[in-house]
Amino acid sequence: MIGVPGRNRVLYLVVCGAAVASNVGRLVSFARRDGWQVCVVSSPDGRKFLDVPAIAAQTGHPVRSFFKNPGEPDVLPAPDAVICAPATVNTVTKWAAGIADTLALGLLVEGVGLGLPMVAVPYTNAAMARHPAFGEAVERLRGWGVTMLYGEDVLTLHPPGSSDRHLDEFPWELPLRALYARLTVEH
Ligand SMILES: Cc1cc2nc3c(=O)[nH]c(=O)nc-3n(C[C@H](O)[C@H](O)[C@H](O)COP(=O)(O)O)c2cc1C
Repeated sequence: MIGVPGRNRVLYLVVCGAAVASNVGRLVSFARRDGWQVCVVSSPDGRKFLDVPAIAAQTGHPVRSFFKNPGEPDVLPAPDAVICAPATVNTVTKWAAGIADTLALGLLVEGVGLGLPMVAVPYTNAAMARHPAFGEAVERLRGWGVTMLYGEDVLTLHPPGSSDRHLDEFPWELPLRALYARLTVEH
């Protein structure tokens, strides 16, 4: 196990609508190996890529995607840390703008305000990544203390339409390592 300050703490894993999301169970396995209680929160589009029953069985928690109705109880424990992976262009730019129109975004926006340790792995194709708003959003979130694992040293961007051929390149263990580095510094 990599050094984790505290076991059985709660990790929220926020998943967005990218093809690599189909492999998010790998990150769940690594986190559970390290003693985290894992709750997966998917964007509504992310659900298309997930085996939702399998993730619920793996984590022991429902995969939530929608805000609860007024008066309903919370079904998930509160998070100690948040990883967003994969983080789409859509979610990254809205997160930086403070838009909270999905449960996933609500938790990400709130997490910045709470000062939670947060790590994100933005993932997209080379064309979408060139939109100026995306790069600006990555930098803004970095400036607000979110660890953004993004750049040529993390992942090589692929051409549009080829994501299915690059599924195995996603660095699923990297956000956990980055989180542990943060927790070690902050505690
Ligand atoms: C097959 C498929 C793969 C996609 N892959 C990505 C991706 O890797 N990165 C990305 O930013 N958007 C990707 N998209 C587009 C997002 O799903 C779309 O922008 C969606 O609105 C994102 O919503 P979310 O940010 O709430 O998850 C993909 C769409 C499809 C249909």
